[in-house]
Amino acid sequence: MDNRPIGFFDSGVGGLTCIPTLQKLLPNERVIYYGDTARTPYGSKAIDTIKKFSFQIADYLVSRDIKMLVIACNTISATCIDDLRKRYPDLPIVGVIEPMAERIIRDQRGRMEHVPIGVIGTKATIGSGVYTELVKGQDADTQMYSRACPLFVPLIEEGIIDDEIMDLTIKHYLDDFIKEHEIQKLVLGCTHYPFIKKNLRRLYPQLELLNPSAEVIGEVKRILAKKDMLADEHMNLEHQCYASDLSENFQNMIDMVFEDDQDVKVKFKKFSAEALD
Ligand code: DGL
Repeated sequence: MDNRPIGFFDSGVGGLTCIPTLQKLLPNERVIYYGDTARTPYGSKAIDTIKKFSFQIADYLVSRDIKMLVIACNTISATCIDDLRKRYPDLPIVGVIEPMAERIIRDQRGRMEHVPIGVIGTKATIGSGVYTELVKGQDADTQMYSRACPLFVPLIEEGIIDDEIMDLTIKHYLDDFIKEHEIQKLVLGCTHYPFIKKNLRRLYPQLELLNPSAEVIGEVKRILAKKDMLADEHMNLEHQCYASDLSENFQNMIDMVFEDDQDVKVKFKKFSAEALD
């Protein structure tokens, strides 16, 4: 048993989309979340910059005595997971890409016919080729196609979601991509994208959307159980959410994510990125 919190981080609000699944599967666990809202998006930045920012945040979370680190960001998982694992060799670290790739491989195994799968994400995630590499490394027959959608994250961070501008942007990136490759399943390869799930369902009702959060939290649960590190109490559960820029949208997203759980208190604070140095 271990009642220390789990550290989650992302470039902004995206990683919050993993929290409802955590609350469902692991209701006793406490979260410290850091969203680097002042420096988002990461996905169009150089890998060295993404690494520098990720180390700063991870060092901060580690200094808060976390029992596990969840990289709730595909961009950071795609570019920095090995470096983070080297930096904290004793800390269990879960990224978002490996658990999703394993699920795709499991789903495909034993199937006679492989349906075309699309992966959408930031430029850094898609440029890394990690999803394709992990899946095709295990099952070379899987048909995978990728598309970077760099404008989705800035719009979501601005709260422009239930809006014609978002729909047009989605169509700009995905209409031809889905038609040309006859995509049937679409991996939401960015933790911000569950915020536009409704738009995607409305625009492409035939598509099966694959959101990695259930796989990610499943992996968190499996590792904590194996190491006997699950939390055992649900008294005064208080999550802490930090952001480098406490924007109105960050607070709205937190309200949206935690609204169903009346038992949980959420404290949020601004913690500037400069202070991480
Ligand atoms: N949520 C991050 C991801 O999963 C967004 C990255 C960004 O800031 O561009 O990739």
